[in-house]
Amino acid sequence: MTRILDGKAVAREMRQETAAAVAELVAGGGRPPGLQAVLVGENPASQLYVRSKNRAAKKAGFASRTRVLDISTRRDELLAVIDELNADDSVDGILVQLPLPAQIDADEVLERIDPAKDVDGFHPINVGRLWLDQPAPAPATAAGIVELLRRAEIQMAGRNAVIVGRSAIVGKPLAGLLMRENCTVTVCHSRTRDLPAVCRGAEILVAAIGRAAFIGPEHVGEGAVVVDVGINRVSDADEVERLFPGDAARRESFAKRGSVVVGDVDYTRVFERASAITPVPGGVGPLTIAQLLANTLATSRARQGLGD
Ligand code: GUN
Repeated sequence: MTRILDGKAVAREMRQETAAAVAELVAGGGRPPGLQAVLVGENPASQLYVRSKNRAAKKAGFASRTRVLDISTRRDELLAVIDELNADDSVDGILVQLPLPAQIDADEVLERIDPAKDVDGFHPINVGRLWLDQPAPAPATAAGIVELLRRAEIQMAGRNAVIVGRSAIVGKPLAGLLMRENCTVTVCHSRTRDLPAVCRGAEILVAAIGRAAFIGPEHVGEGAVVVDVGINRVSDADEVERLFPGDAARRESFAKRGSVVVGDVDYTRVFERASAITPVPGGVGPLTIAQLLANTLATSRARQGLGD
């Protein structure tokens, strides 16, 4: 029997724990954690992410705000906003939604954020701390995946983990975090030779490449735990039918929206080979927001002089 790893349920549990901790913090005379999102432009996916983050933050008792800036915002204008938020004591977490418009260098902006408020864990100082196993906010998707595996009681120590994708947001930080859990970690990318063979050696396989249904049964060893980070939109009806034959719910969703969300894993064909698998949607996605809130609670507590 393949276990479906219910990220939504784990995320709900994490958010409830965070909400309880916020209530305790406030009851003890503390300040509710302040999360400030910065959104530049009108990318619909980014708008959706930021709205979801805001809603979840408010529900957990945070003071949550979003600064929306025009798509034509200049580099120095955005840096000035970051400086202002760095100086604002009520802000415990600054989240600059990526991607940024082409005229702005994202690295420069991320480096400007006070590392103590860097709830995305993207600042070079916090990236360094992650690799040194020092306390620091870790990128939320990567940390959320480790939290899911831990809560699902999936053994990590001593196991071979293969991560497909070397992004700074997911693949790289996850490699560091899984190493910390005593996994033997391999990171694959577009130049990896014989990717299916490397992937078949995984006891924990993580797909984070951003290509719909790219990981097929030929990539999955019998009994592997499969974690699917992908969020891809497929708007071709035949492709949806090929990926999910006879799936009434997906057909209905396609009819309504003209597309369906598909992970990086060919779920239907991989399912039987896996011992456990995260679905898309409802797997890794919800964990990112839950972990972001946990990160913000942690920076807020630290900034209010409270320990872990
Ligand atoms: N864009 C895609 N994922 C992320 C994320 O985790 N944080 C931010 N700030 N932007 C993103």
